[in-house]
Amino acid sequence: MGRLVDQKALGARVSIAVLACSKGAEVYSILWSIRTSRPDLIVTLQAVDISQEIIDFAKEGAYFLKGPASLNALDYLGMTEEEKLSWITCRDQGLDQSASIFQRMDKSEMDAMFDRVGDQAKVKSWLKEGITWRVGDASAPELIHTLGTQDVVVANRFLCHMEPAAAERCLRNIASLVKPGGYIFVSGVDLDVRTKVAKELDWKPVPDSLREIHEGDFSLTEGWPLGWWGLEPFWEDHPDWRIRYASVFRVGETGLGIPRMFHGDDLKLRRPRRESCPGAPECADPTGLCNNHSRFAATRYRRAWALAGSPQKLTSLP
Ligand SMILES: C[S@@+](CC[C@H](N)C(=O)[O-])C[C@H]1O[C@@H](n2cnc3c(N)ncnc32)[C@H](O)[C@@H]1O
Repeated sequence: MGRLVDQKALGARVSIAVLACSKGAEVYSILWSIRTSRPDLIVTLQAVDISQEIIDFAKEGAYFLKGPASLNALDYLGMTEEEKLSWITCRDQGLDQSASIFQRMDKSEMDAMFDRVGDQAKVKSWLKEGITWRVGDASAPELIHTLGTQDVVVANRFLCHMEPAAAERCLRNIASLVKPGGYIFVSGVDLDVRTKVAKELDWKPVPDSLREIHEGDFSLTEGWPLGWWGLEPFWEDHPDWRIRYASVFRVGETGLGIPRMFHGDDLKLRRPRRESCPGAPECADPTGLCNNHSRFAATRYRRAWALAGSPQKLTSLP
C-alpha cells in the first residue's frame, strides 16, 4: 500500500475505501502507514461494514489488551461491559480465536498508534481523523453513489463467505468503485472467482511482494485443502500464477463500466484515461460511472472506429 500511494504527487489527495472493515484494524493500520511515511498526502478513508455493531466498535477505536475471555456470542447479552469489549476485540480473528488482534505489532508500533488507558489500547486521535464510518453492503449496486470512486479499495476476508456466483457479483460491484488506474486489494476470496473477474476486467496484477502477500496469513494456508477458509498454497508452476496468487491489482478502464468488447487488446493503449464521467461537463455524476454516458461513450467509440476503418488508426476518442 505504502509503495503504491508513494507514487502520488506532493500534497495530492488519496481516497480509500475499506469494505468489510470489521473492527477497524485495516483502517487504522493503513492510515498509520500512509500518514507516517507521507504526511503531505490528504487521505480520506471510508470504512464500510454490514454490521452496525461492529462499525460502532471500530469507530470507538478502543481494544481490550488482556487475552481473550472464553466467552461466546450466545452469552453476549449477559456479559459485563468489560467482557463485551474482550469478546468483540477477539472476534473475527480467524480460526484461532485466542490470537490477539495485536499479535503482529511490535512495541514501537503499539506506542505510535495507541494510548494505553487501563486495560485498553485506544487509537490516537490524529489517526481517527479523515475517516467516515458507514454501515453498508459491499454487494449493493447503490454503494457507488454513497462512496464515489476511489483511488484504492480494500476488500479482504469476507467474499469467502459467499457462494461463488454471489462472490463474483459482489467483486464486480466492488471493482466499479475503483477509479481507472486505481488499485484493488482483495484476499480471502475463492481464487477461481478472483482470477475470472481479474481476467475479464483486465486487471493488472501488482507483482511487488506477490508471494509474500499470498502467504502472509499462515492460518489460511494451514486450512487448505479441507477447511472452507483454506487458501491454496503458492504453486509457482501454475500456468496462471501471476494473476491467480496476486492480491493487489491495478484496475484499468473497464472500471468505467464500458463493456470489454469496446476496448480489446488492440484498443486499450489508445483510449485516453478518464477520471470523471465521459459525459462531463454536462453530467453532474461525480463517480465517472454514469451508465448513460458510459453507453454514450461506447457508441461514440464504435462510430469513430467505423470512420477510422480500423482500431489501429484510431488515436483518441472524438
Ligand atoms: C472476517 S471479517 C474481515 C475483516 C477485515 N476485512 C480483515 O480482513 O481483517 C468479516 C467482516 O465482513 C463483514 N461483512 C460480511 N459481509 C459483508 C458485506 N456484504 N458487506 C460489508 N461487510 C460485510 C462482516 O460484518 C465482518 O465484519
